Amino acid sequence: MDTSKHLLALSDHSKDTLSQWIERARVLKTETSGKALLGKTACLIFEKASTRTRVSFETAMYALGGQVVFQTRQDSQLGRGEPLKDMARVLSRYVDALVVRTFGQNVVEELARYATVPVINALTDLYHPCQILSDLMTVAEKKGEFSKLEFAWIGDGNNMANSWIEAAAIFGFTLRLACPQGYAPDAAVMQWAAEQAPGAVRLLRDPKEAMANADVVNVDVWASMGQEAEQQSRIARFQDYQVNAALMSLAKKDAILLHCLPAHRDEEITEEVLEGPQSVIFDQAENKKHMHKALLEHFILKA
Ligand code: CP
Ligand code: NVA
Repeated sequence: MDTSKHLLALSDHSKDTLSQWIERARVLKTETSGKALLGKTACLIFEKASTRTRVSFETAMYALGGQVVFQTRQDSQLGRGEPLKDMARVLSRYVDALVVRTFGQNVVEELARYATVPVINALTDLYHPCQILSDLMTVAEKKGEFSKLEFAWIGDGNNMANSWIEAAAIFGFTLRLACPQGYAPDAAVMQWAAEQAPGAVRLLRDPKEAMANADVVNVDVWASMGQEAEQQSRIARFQDYQVNAALMSLAKKDAILLHCLPAHRDEEITEEVLEGPQSVIFDQAENKKHMHKALLEHFILKA
C-alpha cells in the first residue's frame, strides 16, 4: 500500500507536505467558493458520533463543488459484518474518497489496502490527524512559525495526544505531555518520535512542569468515545489535571489554549479558562473546514 495516497497517520507524510496543506488551507480560508471538486463525491463512514468533523467535511466538499454520502455502521452492511475489503472495493467504484471515523486503526488501514480511492482518517482510537493539522493551522495564524514554540498537553494520552506527538517529531517542536500513570500515550508512537526527533517529546506526570513556559496549551476530554464506562473512574483519576486559571497562569502570558471540542466544562477545563481571552477554540473549530478543503483537494486531485 502506498500510504502517501491516504491520510491514515501524520507520520506517513513529510514535514513539507504537512506545511503545504497548512498553507493551502489558509489560502482556501479566504476564498468564498470554488469548483475544484465539481463532479466528485466523498463517502463519509462514521462509526462514532461527530458534530465538527462531519459537518466541516461535508461543507468543505460542497464549498469545492463536490457532494457527499454519509453512512453509519447501522445503516450500512458494515453493521451486518460485510468484510472491509469488499466494502472498500465496491465504494471505490462509486466515490472519489472515503472519510472514515472508527475505533481501530486497523479498520482504516484495511480500507486503504483495498480501496482504489484515498482513505482519510477522521478519527480512530489511535489518531486524529485531520484535527492536529487544523490545530497547527490555528497556531500558525495566531503565532506564526511554530517550530520553536513549546507545546503542552495536559490529560489523557489519547488519540489526539498520539497525533500531537507525531506532529512534534515531524516539525521538531517541543511537546511536554503530562498524563497520569496508566494513561500514557501509545508506546510505539512515543518510540517512533524518540527516534525521529530525540528530545522533542517529553512525557511527564506533573501538569505544572508540562505547563511551565508553554506557548500552546492543549486540552481534551478525559474519557474519549468508546470509554464511556470509564467516565467516573477517569474523573477521579484526572482531578489534578484540570486546566484551571492557576495552572494556566504557569504558561507564557500570551499562550493560546486549544481544545478540539466537545468539552466537559469544569472537568478537564474550567468554564473560566475555556471562555477566557487565551482560548481560541472557535477559530480552531472553524479551521477544520478550511483544512478539510485542502485535504480533499489534495487527496482527490493530486495524491
Ligand atoms: N473535534 C472533533 O473531532 O469534533 P467532533 O467529534 O464533533 O467531530
Ligand atoms: N479524544 C476525543 C476526541 C474527540 C474529538 C475522542 O476520541 O473522543
